[in-house]
Amino acid sequence: MGPRGRTQTPLAKKLYIKTYGCQMNVYDSGRMADVLTPLGYGLVEAPEGADMIILNTCHIREKAAEKVYSELGRIRHLKKQREDAGGKMLVAVSGCVAQAEGEEILKRAPYVDMVFGPQTYHRLPEMVAEASRAGGYVLDTDFPAEPKFDHLPVESSANVGETAAFLTVQEGCDKFCAFCVVPYTRGAEYSRPADDILAEARRLVGQGVREITLLGQNVNNYHGEAASGEVWGLGRLITEMADIDGLRRLRYTTSYPADMNDELIAAHGEVDALMPFLHLPVQSGSDRILKAMNRRHQVDDYRRLVDRLRKCRADIGLSSDFIVGFPGETDADFADTLKLIEEVEFIQAYSFKYSPRPGTPAAALDDQVSDALKTERLAQLQDLLNAQQLAFNQASVGRVMDVLLDRPGREPGQLVGRSPYMQAVHVSAASYERGEIMPLLITAAHANSLTGEQTSQ
Ligand code: SAH
Ligand code: F3S
Repeated sequence: MGPRGRTQTPLAKKLYIKTYGCQMNVYDSGRMADVLTPLGYGLVEAPEGADMIILNTCHIREKAAEKVYSELGRIRHLKKQREDAGGKMLVAVSGCVAQAEGEEILKRAPYVDMVFGPQTYHRLPEMVAEASRAGGYVLDTDFPAEPKFDHLPVESSANVGETAAFLTVQEGCDKFCAFCVVPYTRGAEYSRPADDILAEARRLVGQGVREITLLGQNVNNYHGEAASGEVWGLGRLITEMADIDGLRRLRYTTSYPADMNDELIAAHGEVDALMPFLHLPVQSGSDRILKAMNRRHQVDDYRRLVDRLRKCRADIGLSSDFIVGFPGETDADFADTLKLIEEVEFIQAYSFKYSPRPGTPAAALDDQVSDALKTERLAQLQDLLNAQQLAFNQASVGRVMDVLLDRPGREPGQLVGRSPYMQAVHVSAASYERGEIMPLLITAAHANSLTGEQTSQ
């Protein structure tokens, strides 16, 4: 066979992938499809009639993990229908629930054929062969010594037709925040070699991608080897990537405050392609709680960091993650979180009720907060965050913003794009080129989007 025989293979088999959770799962789902392409699998939009279904799962909070079992219940019927009609369907659970629950999934849902974690999906061809044998099934939750990236196909069709793409540069986490399952499900920190990343970025840009978001659970702790043998941090990587012709915008997520180094902070002032928007989770505004969470930063460190970023890039917009009701959180701790939010003024944020996760140290703490109190605090926190988001959106009215147009809107003649701050912007425009960046005058603001008009230029 020719090199992987990829182009000759007709995509006769239908693959349905449902992705839960974070952006890295979106990236992984694309790569799984790439690994399965040479086997003749092509992506479809619905699970009905699929030859293979993969649920790429999220284990970060209890609710996210529960969804998987209810979805599996539905899939069981589809599989049965297909088998009754004389067909076959392979059902796989991948991602962090697969990593954490492993065999338990096969016990609770015996119609599942394959269970594999985030670090082994490059082995899908072997897994499919094994699971297709009579009575065969697969359970693969290894953390292989050799990174999966070395075994993934260079070619990818994951972002064909898209203007924005994710690119994983770092994976895993060694921080062990007391509430978090990620270090257990994604494994130890690993940074991909810089050359591989640059090659992947060039390929994406060649396909028409104009905006790349570099991904990592601890992306700002990226330290990958460059071709020269030097080790590059994220600031250096971003600086080098910005030279790629046709790449207009760069972002990165998610960052750990204590890992924001000088070079990366400076890049915010120096690299035009680096968008003035940063997701920098703080979790809590109380030092006592941050310590109990095993976060390696205090509230003042965060304040100082925000000041430094704003000195480099005055117009930077900040986003964050917050957890309310971590064990032992008092009214005073919570008030400190509200105070920090008032000081920093976030333009967008995610907030969650603390969810005890099996195997994490915080789940074993005595002083768990009641659900009623968590609900109350979350509502109060979200009121404040929503008000800040709306205020930022309203302050955008009258400004001209560069909007990356990426898709048609719901109404005829309408387009949707993204501002530098990730705000969705709707505009009526006669024509546009995919991936065009258009200066738009913002004329109206809503809770989650903006309306823009073409300027006379
Ligand atoms: N740096 C990571 C963040 C992991 S999880 C990454 O990007 O992959 C994303 C957010 O989920 C965290 O910042 C935290 O706010 C929230 N989270 C994590 N574990 C949680 C838990 N047990 N309960 C509630 N929220 C949690
Ligand atoms: Fe989770 Fe903390 Fe790492 S939130 S991903 S353990 S930095």
